[in-house]
Amino acid sequence: MKNVTLGLAGAGRIGTMHAKNIAALNADLAEQGIQIRLQITDVAADHARTVAESVGAKFVPSVREMLDGGIDGLVIATGTATHPELIRAGVDAGVPVFCEKPVAGNVADSLPVLDYIREHNGVVQIGHQRRFDAGYLEAKRRLDAGKLGWIHSLRAVTGDMFPPSVEFLATSGGLFRDCSVHDFDILRWLTGREIVEVYARGSNNGDPAIGAVGDVDTALAVVTFDDGTVGTVSATRYNGAGHDVRLEIQGSKSSVMVGLDEKTAVRSTEAEVEFPQGETHKTFAERFDAAYRAEMLAFLELIQGQRENPCTPEDAVAASKVADAAQLSLETGIPVKVEL
Ligand SMILES: NC(=O)c1ccc[n+]([C@@H]2O[C@H](COP(=O)([O-])OP(=O)(O)OC[C@H]3O[C@@H](n4cnc5c(N)ncnc54)[C@H](O)[C@@H]3O)[C@@H](O)[C@H]2O)c1
Repeated sequence: MKNVTLGLAGAGRIGTMHAKNIAALNADLAEQGIQIRLQITDVAADHARTVAESVGAKFVPSVREMLDGGIDGLVIATGTATHPELIRAGVDAGVPVFCEKPVAGNVADSLPVLDYIREHNGVVQIGHQRRFDAGYLEAKRRLDAGKLGWIHSLRAVTGDMFPPSVEFLATSGGLFRDCSVHDFDILRWLTGREIVEVYARGSNNGDPAIGAVGDVDTALAVVTFDDGTVGTVSATRYNGAGHDVRLEIQGSKSSVMVGLDEKTAVRSTEAEVEFPQGETHKTFAERFDAAYRAEMLAFLELIQGQRENPCTPEDAVAASKVADAAQLSLETGIPVKVEL
């Protein structure tokens, strides 16, 4: 690997986390004589300056100046609505792009971006970090090796401890597009199958402000795969026990649970069962710490042509199609076919 200059756009919740991870990767790679120079920008300039200083990065006033100054890769961690414009800017500059999920707020807005990337031979990796998590990788290894037999049930659970700000939720596209989209992605990736139908329900028993911006705080989607296998994908913003991301896969021979360890945010009600007892994860950043770093290392390798794209825009849009269908099902109260 060679020295790399990365530009990071957006220094909010996840942008700050990526900045810290890039600084940590830089420290790791320094042992091999490799340097990652990081530049950071945000429309909230003072905040970006503070984040840049805290990780030893350079503050740059805008994405335009970053691209004009010459960077080797652009990391987009701005709000979803800005992703299409910034992806196009990166592609226009001929720079590989890492963009946080999703490609755009909904599938209709994503498809022109996909076309643009294809027409301009853009290289764009999308941030679905579960693909880099050790537990999901091991589940995939066992599934691919046939250890579980044929799969009859999949149950994905995602629980945030606290809701993000209502301002964020107002533009997030809803719980399925913002949160469950990770589970829709990982279910496709693990099974190698398409989800063809979704039936979704949701509730709003937490902060009424979430309902007021058109979102739900808790939801469940029943998903049907193209071979008829069924699964459920549930999400909540109020999982007081901790940040809880798990996937149970049951097959004809064996069953596995991803995310079941001492930190899992559940307690057994069985007598004398003490597992799990550890301090639970509080945030997605803690739960997927190693995965986010592996994801960014993969982007560095992608920039240098050392690996295939681990999560293409096409993959991300396929997951977004399921999220759009779930949102429509939630709104209409009837099952919705996914437009493949
Ligand atoms: N992969 C994951 O697990 C994960 C987790 C959280 C968020 N996300 C995604 O990351 C994105 C950001 O989410 P967040 O929670 O960090 O949001 P946030 O609101 O905390 O941060 C977004 C930042 O982008 C800045 N910004 C907006 N437009 C900009 C522009 N044109 N140029 C430069 N800066 C700009 C804002 O000032 C803000 O600081 C969203 O698309 C979200 O879906 C992914």
